[in-house]
Amino acid sequence: MNYLYIANWKMNLSYSQSLDFCTNNIDQLNALVYSAQVVLCPSFVALGPIAQVLKKSSITIGAQNCSEFESGSYTGEVSAASLAEIGVSYCIVGHSERRIYFGETTEKIIKKINLLYANAMMPIICIGENKEEFLQKKTIHALTEQLEPILKTFVHQQYKHIIIAYEPFWAIGTGIIPENTYLEEISIWLKNYVAEFAPDCTMQLLYGGSINEKNIHQLKTIKLIDGFLIGGASTNFETFCGIIKIG
Ligand code: PGA
Repeated sequence: MNYLYIANWKMNLSYSQSLDFCTNNIDQLNALVYSAQVVLCPSFVALGPIAQVLKKSSITIGAQNCSEFESGSYTGEVSAASLAEIGVSYCIVGHSERRIYFGETTEKIIKKINLLYANAMMPIICIGENKEEFLQKKTIHALTEQLEPILKTFVHQQYKHIIIAYEPFWAIGTGIIPENTYLEEISIWLKNYVAEFAPDCTMQLLYGGSINEKNIHQLKTIKLIDGFLIGGASTNFETFCGIIKIG
């Protein structure tokens, strides 16, 4: 199976570091796509130049965010249309860091999803429970609350494919990942929930949160997971390659 690997560089790589990552490793990056689908998500300023560097490759690029507005007087925002114009194919929405630090609500996420689809880009929709919800065994409740309004939009708009990144908040950047049995249980629930709610929709389920070269083998034994959203470990080329190659 060809996994989908999303490298979320967040604000960890600067403009020049992001560009160096691609220019220094272009041949190896190209070789990776025979066995995997790879999406690099640098910060906004690096998207255009990286799109140029990767123009002839099969590596795709994704944004880490987009505006919930189509266009207009929204200082500091970047529209989905602009992202499409420079060759962006994917965009992360609903990441827990955006929910926690920037007030990204489900309402805003849905507006972004609609604008991304309108501009022929795929949203990578992040959902996950926080530590308290996890400890109180309220994960399914938290995921249902986040997902239900989004799936209603998918059904209403007749979107045909959904990418969901399940990222427990407590696993992001902590070095801790859930037990396989827990991840299996959540994956089964998520796949069934989407299949029942939006039967016409195909789905790719990603896992994200503290993925590294040591735990990826274990994560790849979970059959329902179709790919991975990788933060810290994707900023080092050797480590990122290692994660893709182990399996
Ligand atoms: P991490 O980040 O791999 O550094 O935990 C994952 C993410 O935030 O998507």
